Amino acid sequence: MLTARIAVVASGGGTNLQALIDAQGRGELKSGSIALVIADKAGIGAIERAQAAGINWVLAVRREPDFEEKVLSALLEHTIDMVVLAGFLGIFSADLLRRFGKPMINIHPALIPSFCGRGFYGLRVHQAALDYGVKVTGATVHYVNEVADGGEIILQKAVDVLPGDTPELLQRRVMEQAEWVLLPQAAELVAAGIVKEKENTL
Ligand code: GAR
Repeated sequence: MLTARIAVVASGGGTNLQALIDAQGRGELKSGSIALVIADKAGIGAIERAQAAGINWVLAVRREPDFEEKVLSALLEHTIDMVVLAGFLGIFSADLLRRFGKPMINIHPALIPSFCGRGFYGLRVHQAALDYGVKVTGATVHYVNEVADGGEIILQKAVDVLPGDTPELLQRRVMEQAEWVLLPQAAELVAAGIVKEKENTL
């Protein structure tokens, strides 16, 4: 069966990468196969998860000047059809997006357009939601374009904020109830579209 070759880019623990790996194992992510993991820092959990699952991985250090060149050559070398940003804490340049020229999606741990854009990543997003006092937050999967967290929304899911929440508690609830569910679903949706296109060009 034709599948879309997926590269996952991660900066941290990799629980969203794990959700994708698990969804693939259960057959829920079936139109796409995870062909490559790109880690932007040495020693992160995402590398261990890729190794444990037997997935190819490469290191491209985000703080180094050749970061985007390394990312792009890995994507081309592994003939990647789509990219999933799963806890990637950087922002790709418009130049990289244009040169890759294929779908890229991102998971953001809030309901866009709230608490998003430059400076809103990881725990900072949940801190901002608590500071504002919202009673509902959630997660969003969207296409990546040249505007940080600005691309078309694919899926969103709401999660309650509870009395006594800390950024860590809220992050965990948003991950469990929204991110780990939404990201594999959105990856499957986009991958299915790519497969359809491939079939039409056969
Ligand atoms: C996740 O909550 C993800 O939504 C967030 O970073 C965390 C990474 O966790 N991403 C962003 O904030 C992007 N702006 P993980 O490494 O365990 O998947």
